[in-house]
Amino acid sequence: MVRRFTLTEHITQQQREYPDATGDFTGLLSDIAVASKIIAHDVRRAGIGGVLGAAGSKNVSGDEVKRLDVLSNEVFINVLERSGHLCLMASEENEHPISIPADFPRGKYVFLFDPLDGSSNIDGNVSVGSIFSIFRRLSPPGEEGIDDLLQPGYNQVCAGYVLYGSSTMFVYTTGFGTHGFTLDPTVGEFILSHENIRTPQKGRIFSVNEGNFRRWNGRMRRFVEYLKEPAGEGRPYTGRYIGSLVADFHRNLLYGGIFLYPEDEVHPSGKLRLLYEAAPIAFLAEQAGGMATTGKMPVREVEPTRLHMKVPLIVGSAEDVRLCLRFLRGEKIEPDRPG
Ligand code: AHG
Ligand code: MN
Ligand code: MN
Repeated sequence: MVRRFTLTEHITQQQREYPDATGDFTGLLSDIAVASKIIAHDVRRAGIGGVLGAAGSKNVSGDEVKRLDVLSNEVFINVLERSGHLCLMASEENEHPISIPADFPRGKYVFLFDPLDGSSNIDGNVSVGSIFSIFRRLSPPGEEGIDDLLQPGYNQVCAGYVLYGSSTMFVYTTGFGTHGFTLDPTVGEFILSHENIRTPQKGRIFSVNEGNFRRWNGRMRRFVEYLKEPAGEGRPYTGRYIGSLVADFHRNLLYGGIFLYPEDEVHPSGKLRLLYEAAPIAFLAEQAGGMATTGKMPVREVEPTRLHMKVPLIVGSAEDVRLCLRFLRGEKIEPDRPG
């Protein structure tokens, strides 16, 4: 019989590397997995469960809130507030930090999350995801506050996402590689399917909302034009854009390529949120051998100043991201010699 590793076994094994580990973190990750299985179930039945469509409000970023955004947010909060491992949470869907009710125990971690990513796609039965980021608390017990949440990405102890795609996948890192698990629906367990993912150093896919092309600055336009030129080995790149960060990132992580949500005239800092989109995705990319930058600095070095702050995101295969940075610096890129 083939021995298969579950997510819980994998986390437990990784925690054995830390002699002082209390099991707290293992418990937290297991609770996140439980929440994501509940959401996966709701997403799979969305068309018949009466949960498609808009909730009738806008979130703090100005996006239309979908019913499944609300539902997924509630699932994470309900499962994790009673876990005993957290002292504070922050969600894309909540303007303010989410405190732990007084009658539940508090723990040493903070949890930041995008409960449903790509939700504008949900009514079209397109892949969506959840993204999360975990930090250790900085303040002493009882004094938790916004500073525990506003930590730079290099402080993350864990980052991950769940992709509700043609199968449900849980992908996470604690700084020892990026590992992927596929939900086996027959037993309800995440099974290790993609151990220590290594993203290609150079890819052939570019993923960007090209509808914004004319709003980008000239250097960004030139980079994307360059990728589309049928010149030299590997060009033109193939364009692939779903509009769900988790799904776009996951595909490029496996196949190689570059994802961009740059700044533009309408989105002066891009569209993606640092704390629960860009920073966790950056950690996962780097742990798989890729790179993530805002165009000015590594994403994980950005010091957050606000909970919902946005940053431009350029992430993917290291060579592709480095090439993009050269364009953004205005370097002259030599045309390929005719073959
Ligand atoms: P969310 O559904 O959590 O608000 O995130 C949507 C994000 C992200 O998933 C995607 O990469 C991006 O918005 C797509 O934006 P455009 O529609 O502007 O391309
Ligand atoms: Mn999102
Ligand atoms: Mn979202």
